[in-house]
Amino acid sequence: MKTAISRIAFGAAFASLVLAAGPAIMAHGDVTPQAVDTSDLPDIGEEWLTENPYRGHERAIQIGTSAYTQNCARCHGIDAISGGIAPDLRYLEPGAEGDEWYMERYRHGAVRDGKVYMPAFDEVLGQKAGWAIRAYLETKYTED
Ligand code: HEC
Repeated sequence: MKTAISRIAFGAAFASLVLAAGPAIMAHGDVTPQAVDTSDLPDIGEEWLTENPYRGHERAIQIGTSAYTQNCARCHGIDAISGGIAPDLRYLEPGAEGDEWYMERYRHGAVRDGKVYMPAFDEVLGQKAGWAIRAYLETKYTED
């Protein structure tokens, strides 16, 4: 229920954004976040966790792979290999130490001087999808 409501809220926010920005935003192509079905994953409550509850969880990795491809790959690259637009997420620190920074960016995005470098995903995709994507990214981890 919660996800349905936030999806509607996002839809409305997105619609007004499109109306305000007009053709400029439409010209950028696929910017609509794609809903992620996380109903298969164990519930983790409402509180945002600081450590990935789905690390190594097979189903979470599957869901995270498709969620990443639909929502992150256009900036961070197919298969998590950056084309240079945005940081290469294969280098994110693995384990609990890296979880915190990952979630900081996932939830709040990156905005500087009023420019959105990365949109916030907390309301849009929610916590379960966020950790599923993190579980996927850890399978791609590469050392510097
Ligand atoms: C519109 C492009 C865009 C999209 C879409 C996007 N990001 Fe980003 N992301 C960026 C940029 C640009 C940065 C670097 C921000 C900065 O300059 O501080 C970034 C930074 C990050 C970082 C921090 C990386 C580091 O090395 O510090 C993480 C983690 C991250 N993004 C995760 C995600 C995830 C997960 C998704 C999909 C749910 C996503 N991003 C979608 C553009 C994007």
